[in-house]
Amino acid sequence: LRRLAERRYPHLKIGTAVAAIPLLSDSDYARVLGEQFNMVTPENVMKFQFIHPQPDRYAFADADAIVDFAELNHMAVHGHTLAWKEALPRWVTEGNHDDDELEHILAEHIATVVGRYKGRIASWDVINEPFEPFGSELRTGSPWYQAMGEDYIAFALREAHRADPDAKLYINDYALEHRGPKSDAMYELAKSLLEDGVPLHGIGFQMHEDMTDDYQPIGVDAFRENVQRFIDLGLEVRISEMDVNLQEDDSRKRLKQQAKYYRDIFELAKEKRAFTAFSIWGFTDRYSSLQDWWNEEGFGNGLIFDTQKKPKPAYHSLKSSL
Ligand code: XIL
Repeated sequence: LRRLAERRYPHLKIGTAVAAIPLLSDSDYARVLGEQFNMVTPENVMKFQFIHPQPDRYAFADADAIVDFAELNHMAVHGHTLAWKEALPRWVTEGNHDDDELEHILAEHIATVVGRYKGRIASWDVINEPFEPFGSELRTGSPWYQAMGEDYIAFALREAHRADPDAKLYINDYALEHRGPKSDAMYELAKSLLEDGVPLHGIGFQMHEDMTDDYQPIGVDAFRENVQRFIDLGLEVRISEMDVNLQEDDSRKRLKQQAKYYRDIFELAKEKRAFTAFSIWGFTDRYSSLQDWWNEEGFGNGLIFDTQKKPKPAYHSLKSSL
């Protein structure tokens, strides 16, 4: 995929989330990764609880390994993530810090993590999932919101910009594809940040899609129409975490429908110059997060390579679209 994309759409990165354990232990995984993709997003190891497990201790080894691998293979790195309400260590959530201390913790964290990879990480999900699942309300539960109110968003973006003025800074969330309360709220947030001169450069559309019920077309026209208003603000956009959950039904028919999902979104990303990346949330069903999440009910085969790392119809549909 990357060779074709680099020839025809050099501005559009073909990305995937990458997990540190298989990267370091499964040479086949590393080979396919380096051959097929030109951007990686660390799936977990840059999250706060993993990279900053103690107040005065950072754990950079796995994140370093991913960044080193990317450089060796001429891939860009998308950093994930700095201010999120999840994946926080207990020393943050149960530390009884007052508001000023929490503000200081976030600033120090961002300066340290972004600063370490300055010039090596092209873009960051500075803010992850700021909104409630399907409403227009900001999530109020995170320590960052509790300490600063909604100002934590501008604060984190400014700190990240200070630490690496060249990095592109994103807000990333899900259920934003179509017009509705959530995407309207994201639009208003982005607009007001830009009006205030806050360094925000783009919006990530996660796109964890679910095909476990009946097949329904993804509504690309509505997505195209919705995404345009973000682009009109001067923002970049990216597909940041796509997967298409099938659960146990992986019949030929279902795999073809899954392929169409991927292809429809990919075609949209190709169409608009403002799309900087088409990135999926892992590439092989062997190490998919859907495997963990859906384990009790079946298995998640939402990615484009099967558990043997063989290309699925979804892979071929992306390739033939390039
Ligand atoms: C997920 C990882 O894939 C899992 O391995 C982990 O257990 C939980 O987090 N939105 C995000 C990602 O922004 O960070 C999440 O990643 C998936 C949903």
